[in-house]
Amino acid sequence: MSGQNRTRTNLFIDIGIFLAFLLIMMPRLTGISIHEWLALAFAGTIVVHLLFHWEWIVGVAPQFFARLIHESRLNFVIDLFFFLALVMLIVSGFAISKVVLPALGLSLPFSVIWKQVHKTAADAALIALGLHCGMHVKWIAQNGKRHIVAPIAALFKKSAIASESAGGK
Ligand code: HEM
Repeated sequence: MSGQNRTRTNLFIDIGIFLAFLLIMMPRLTGISIHEWLALAFAGTIVVHLLFHWEWIVGVAPQFFARLIHESRLNFVIDLFFFLALVMLIVSGFAISKVVLPALGLSLPFSVIWKQVHKTAADAALIALGLHCGMHVKWIAQNGKRHIVAPIAALFKKSAIASESAGGK
């Protein structure tokens, strides 16, 4: 895949998981069934997201202790915190599951503790998502402009030229 195609794929995956996360954060709006199945699909997409950024992950990890103040280092800490919050979310989600687990023929006794862990992990993940997006705001703005705003603007320009030349006839 060429560099720009890869960036565009990354951008669309990132927008997809961002919107999915916001929907998953509103189980009262979506209902528990959509919440659980969407969260499962979300977990799979996170693995794809990590694989697409694998070179960055293995590139930064060895340098972690090399320099004290470094932007990548802060990113690494935020991303690690985000990842651990997501793992806790998925694990605790399974522990309190009302739909996915029974669909797999499994059931666990209700636990107030797992429910609290799920709530706390959701809050932590939301904060981490804000920081994660904040740290990548330049990349989001640059590529959002290049791969979303510019193609839409070009479409409008094309249809304006087409209607102008149709009106001129
Ligand atoms: C990205 C992953 C996930 C996020 C962001 C998320 C977020 C949330 C949030 C914000 C709540 C409401 C908590 C409250 O205020 O009561 C909730 C509830 C719930 N979640 Fe998740 N969740 C995720 C994954 C999962 C998974 C994988 C499952 C199960 C397979 C699950 C099962 C549930 C259940 C059953 C409830 C309702 C608890 C209750 O009110 O009794 N969640 N989740």
